[in-house]
Amino acid sequence: MSTSAAAGPAVELKDVRFAYRAGQDVLDVPALSVARGELLFLHGPSGSGKTTLLGLLAGVLVPSAGTVRILGSDLGALRSGARDHFRAEHLGYVFQMFNLIPYLSVRENITLPCRLSAARRARLGGTSADAQAAQLADRLEIAGLLDEPVTALSVGQQQRVAVARALLGAPELVVCDEPTSALDADRRDRFLELLFARCQEAGSTLVFVSHDLALAPRFSRTLALGTLNRAAAPRAAGDPEAVGAGARR
Ligand SMILES: Nc1ncnc2c1ncn2[C@@H]1O[C@H](COP(=O)(O)OP(=O)(O)O)[C@@H](O)[C@H]1O
Ligand SMILES: [Mg+2]
Repeated sequence: MSTSAAAGPAVELKDVRFAYRAGQDVLDVPALSVARGELLFLHGPSGSGKTTLLGLLAGVLVPSAGTVRILGSDLGALRSGARDHFRAEHLGYVFQMFNLIPYLSVRENITLPCRLSAARRARLGGTSADAQAAQLADRLEIAGLLDEPVTALSVGQQQRVAVARALLGAPELVVCDEPTSALDADRRDRFLELLFARCQEAGSTLVFVSHDLALAPRFSRTLALGTLNRAAAPRAAGDPEAVGAGARR
């Protein structure tokens, strides 16, 4: 990777289109740039393409047109296996459905990225993956559950396991899809504090998706999917988010 790429934005999208079915664009994003270290809040109503956009940032989905550059790398130029490796090495991803591995324990789920990637292990800062997992679990109030199978956990507990897994080994880009939806207000606030502290310590870039606009003031920048995505469907009249989300000309 060249020096200029390393100094460039964490995320750069250009003329990106994505469709699950041919001819039916879900995303049409002319441009999106997220600077390194930025804490970006992305909001939009259900169905506006938030999860799809994060899938493209993580290289889980591939655009039908345009380029997705993450930390200077063009994900579309990587083969599927290389994209998986890139994700394990550089990204922390809290999926909306968590994507925990059901036959692994809480501890094994949290430490998985570090077992998959030597570069990620190198970012542990001198501690072991298990030690850092225990520390994160403690901060997220799931320390007593480390040896449990994840299938024995409540939804809110599983969400915190997914968060610990995403933060372990201080990835350069942290992507969160509605990570607070199953948390009560107190836990949500503590989780956000931990997330911001970890990102700032590591200089990580954060892209955080939620429909809960009340969280927006805590971030360094807020973007509405409706203004970013030309393919966002106009909302029904009476939808409280219609004004911001459906602003198409
Ligand atoms: N796997 C899929 N197959 C087909 N259509 C999908 C799939 N996932 C999402 N969609 C459609 O794409 C659009 C955007 O969905 P999504 O990105 O999940 O929105 P959000 O996360 O903002 O709720 C919706 O119309 C949704 O129905
Ligand atoms: Mg979603």
